[in-house]
Amino acid sequence: MKLQDKVAIVTGGASGIGEAIAIKFAAHGAFVIVGDVQDELGQKVCAAIGPRATFVHCDVADEAGVEALVNTAVARHGRLDIMMNNAGVGEPGGRDVRDLDIRAFDRVMSVNVAGVALGMKHAARHMVPRGSGVIINTASNVTGAAGIAPLAYTASKHAVVGLTRTAAVQLGRYGIRANAISPGAIPTPAFVRYFRKAVPGMDENGARAVASKATTLRYGEDLESALSVEDVANAAVFLASEDSRFVSGHELMLDGASTVTDKSFDAIGMMLATASS
Ligand SMILES: NC(=O)c1ccc[n+]([C@@H]2O[C@H](COP(=O)([O-])OP(=O)(O)OC[C@H]3O[C@@H](n4cnc5c(N)ncnc54)[C@H](O)[C@@H]3O)[C@@H](O)[C@H]2O)c1
Repeated sequence: MKLQDKVAIVTGGASGIGEAIAIKFAAHGAFVIVGDVQDELGQKVCAAIGPRATFVHCDVADEAGVEALVNTAVARHGRLDIMMNNAGVGEPGGRDVRDLDIRAFDRVMSVNVAGVALGMKHAARHMVPRGSGVIINTASNVTGAAGIAPLAYTASKHAVVGLTRTAAVQLGRYGIRANAISPGAIPTPAFVRYFRKAVPGMDENGARAVASKATTLRYGEDLESALSVEDVANAAVFLASEDSRFVSGHELMLDGASTVTDKSFDAIGMMLATASS
């Protein structure tokens, strides 16, 4: 029970990583407010969690919506302790800069970057007078290796880290910490949708296998040993709790070293590692 009676907002909590975080936060004793654009799914997640969870329709790209989400948490529970800015989207295609679709680019930036900035803004306005609070932003391990995701998505997640570090410095004097979590590939609904669109003929199992291969700590292991949404939720609990009370301005990579592995490791390093083991 690391978050007993803490009040937490989780954006993008209707599905995937956010859903797992909302469930885990509540299991650790927190009151959870899920903000998402998928009303039916969000309500289902909250009903499954029970009376500690509330769903609020919120598009994080819309400032009035984010303000209302934060105000709902405060009106309902008297304060806000944890702001988990997790909602995010990717753009279809866009692997090559020559194909850049500026409207898709703007949409990704408005959700992934402005959405996080707005979440931090309205959360901080309530946290500063209380002199405490925790902000956690979902970035991605695309900040550690270029070329594994489309252009706007990659740029947006770099920006999330910049926002996080800046907020950590600006808000630290008020007792507020800000950190980012950067997971590697996990076959959430968004990931599977993206791969099925991007790679003709790819089915759901194929997409799951791609994610698994990218983030399995030891090569050759099965799907079950790959990174999961629960791993991200555990990291979020750590960053939200007093266990990390001096961690701020940090980007927590959660990708089994995939972004620090040199590509030549696949060919040479793996051969040597196998030969010497
Ligand atoms: N799955 C991965 O491999 C992976 C890896 C690294 C980072 N991430 C990041 O994790 C976060 C969650 O992604 P996921 O994989 O769980 O995807 P997901 O699609 O399963 O969940 C994302 C949720 O965000 C919601 N959302 C989208 N736009 C929104 C908006 N404008 N306002 C409010 N809610 C909105 C969606 O409705 C959905 O419920 C994203 O920020 C994503 O970029 C995912």
